[in-house]
Amino acid sequence: MSREHCVGAFAAAAVAVMVGVGGCALFENEHVARGRTLYAYYCSHCHGEHGRPGEGFNWKSMPDPKPKDLSNKDEMSTLKDEEIFAAISRDMKDTTPGVGDKISEDEFAVPTMPTFKNTLSEEELWSLVAFVRTLHGMKLEKADWASLKKERPKFALVPKPMVTATPAEEAKLAARGKQLYYNKYGCNACHKIGQSGGEVGPPLDRAGFRLNTSWVYRWIKYPQSMKPRTKMPNLGVSDEDAKAIMFFLKTLNAPPPAQPLPASS
Ligand code: HEC
Ligand code: HEC
Repeated sequence: MSREHCVGAFAAAAVAVMVGVGGCALFENEHVARGRTLYAYYCSHCHGEHGRPGEGFNWKSMPDPKPKDLSNKDEMSTLKDEEIFAAISRDMKDTTPGVGDKISEDEFAVPTMPTFKNTLSEEELWSLVAFVRTLHGMKLEKADWASLKKERPKFALVPKPMVTATPAEEAKLAARGKQLYYNKYGCNACHKIGQSGGEVGPPLDRAGFRLNTSWVYRWIKYPQSMKPRTKMPNLGVSDEDAKAIMFFLKTLNAPPPAQPLPASS
């Protein structure tokens, strides 16, 4: 029975449903239900509604590696619940060869898989783990729901950033910002520059023309202060990193898109 049917059945026969509909989504654990809603909002564009490859609208435009197949039990069963939690709530790591962070061999550090640590509450993050488990026919073993924080992280609107730099400093920061954009925060997972990059957010290849620097800085630091329900997660970008990325975006001055052809009469 599909979820819709299940809910329909409930509306039609609220009393009868009390007996004998085991397995029906109605009796889905409340955390799984919460996780399902969050997943649809924050994850399905990349991973797909049922966690399957190619299903999400952003899947095809993602760089490699493609979003994990969350419906594959053989692979997903090798991850512990804690490891799934850690993957969605980690700190982003700079994977740039040479200058990047130290990353241990078994550590999950794919830049194009965003962290949700700074966007969702602990309880929401565990609800997501509970839902992700259902995508490959497993169950979350246990979570100490009562002890989990229910508050989402809160951030004030950031003041205007210090944007003064000499042209030489700006160029250096922009080069660093480019590394951070791709190799640490995976902004390309959701934004296009030229032909490459995801389609969850607007293209950024004209950001240097279109957007002022403090607007850009604030979006990078605190997306939820700019738009409370945005799908752009707060990636925990440090002030220093945000400044470098801001200068990188300032260099993007692609020519305007070609004029559409006049309508034929
Ligand atoms: C911008 C696209 C994108 C979004 C949004 C996204 N993911 Fe991912 N996800 C990825 C990519 C890319 C990988 C890495 C695949 C790989 O390593 O092969 C990944 C990997 C994972 C993994 C496997 C981690 C591991 O240890 O191997 C899990 C679990 C996961 N995502 C869950 C989620 C959940 C839950 C959400 C929403 C809260 C989410 N993802 C949102 C792109 C995304
Ligand atoms: C999971 C997808 C995702 C990731 C990752 C992401 N963004 Fe976004 N971004 C969005 C979405 C969606 C919007 C549009 C906001 C809205 O309308 O809700 C946005 C908006 C923006 C804007 C405002 C654009 C405008 O036209 O006003 C900027 C600037 C921006 N993002 C930069 C970045 C940078 C830099 C990074 C990496 C540090 C990044 N984004 C990572 C999804 C993402």
